[in-house]
Amino acid sequence: MSTVVIIGAQWGDEGKGKIVDFLTEKCDYVVRFQGGCNAGHTVVVGNEKYVLHLLPSGILHKNKKCIIGNGVVLDPAALLKEIDTLRGKGLEIDDNIYISKHCHLIMPYHIAIEEQAEKTKKIGTTKKGIGPCYTDKIARNGVRMIDLLYPDVLRNKIKANLEIINFLLKNLYGADVLNEEDIFSQYVRYGEKLKDYIADSDILINEAIDSGKNVLFEGAQGTLLDIDHGTYPYVTSSNTVAGGACTGAGVSPRKIDKIIGIVKAYTTRVGGGPFPTEIKDALGELIRQRGGEYGATTGRPRRCGWLDIVGLKHAVRVNGFTGLVITKLDILDGIEKLKVCVGYKHEDKIIEEFPKELEILENCKPIYEELPGWKESTAGIKDYERLPQNAKKYLQFIEDSLKVKIQIISTGQKRDETIIKEPIL
Ligand code: IMP
Repeated sequence: MSTVVIIGAQWGDEGKGKIVDFLTEKCDYVVRFQGGCNAGHTVVVGNEKYVLHLLPSGILHKNKKCIIGNGVVLDPAALLKEIDTLRGKGLEIDDNIYISKHCHLIMPYHIAIEEQAEKTKKIGTTKKGIGPCYTDKIARNGVRMIDLLYPDVLRNKIKANLEIINFLLKNLYGADVLNEEDIFSQYVRYGEKLKDYIADSDILINEAIDSGKNVLFEGAQGTLLDIDHGTYPYVTSSNTVAGGACTGAGVSPRKIDKIIGIVKAYTTRVGGGPFPTEIKDALGELIRQRGGEYGATTGRPRRCGWLDIVGLKHAVRVNGFTGLVITKLDILDGIEKLKVCVGYKHEDKIIEEFPKELEILENCKPIYEELPGWKESTAGIKDYERLPQNAKKYLQFIEDSLKVKIQIISTGQKRDETIIKEPIL
């Protein structure tokens, strides 16, 4: 039996969805533990493309238990829409979804307040209400999944929160206020639709582990978007690092066997914030086009850049990766010279560790090592030996720099476009 945590090692969009779907084959349970419908996990099965926002990417397999852990912030409207879309595509998904009683709910006022705050803050959020929902959780004002089953509690919480939010909307932002009764009745209806999914998810997950099942923990976003370890304030509002799996699912660190870092063969970021290796010329555009680098949730074009070993070393440290998966290697096919950032220069100083100061990160220049590219196509290759020599050298360079073994290499969107160098499960 094994427990495996899947973590994005960069700024999200590393291709975690495909890898989770791929590994689900050998798993019994798949658990989301943080974030919400800001995530967009793209999974291709046969000729069908699915974009999952809240449901664990394991949902596309039959008979796998899919759990939304306590660390997730859940928008009931988004979840119901996602379930409907999947049903519309012929998937049977009813009796394998479990939602923690302690999930905090995204409320219409979270989205309304974020809409206003974003106008001045300009973090470049997905505007799904993620930050304001986590704010309420930490401030102990949150509405949780279980509250949907207790109308009096639900009403009182909505009433108390709206007093503050409506004051801000009206007086600070000059925006329309929200109606308590509308929100209350809407959320009661959500409760009726979702009540059968509500579960003691921590008990379920721990029992599964204790009885020898394989459990996969699916991270959303990426390490550099972590609220503590990312490029604050240009981050999401949850702990995206491996430790988040423990708090967000109710599992002891002692029960985690493997922590896998998903690394895209280059770097992307969506939204604002520093990005030292960003490529701002035609090559950046070429990578964006080839890699389909547009936000799966918002459709925004992603900023593209070279691989950044400095950022990845930070990710290795704060997550403790036991292995790596390299994704989208094929997107680099045919690029003559590949740059890899091995350090930063700030003023006259060489920096080898990811800076804690945003100021430095914003103003540093990457120091690149150049590696030869490869002409041949790697798209769809399933056997490591068939990779071009220079692709192998590129992978070896990553492995040597990070001192973590590469276990899987993804060479396309489909399940079988995958090289297994060393099995994870
Ligand atoms: P929020 O998570 O909507 O609050 O957005 C905060 C930052 O995280 C913004 O820069 C978003 O673009 C980024 N972000 C949130 N979710 C994802 C994701 O799934 N992939 C990549 N970036 C994300």
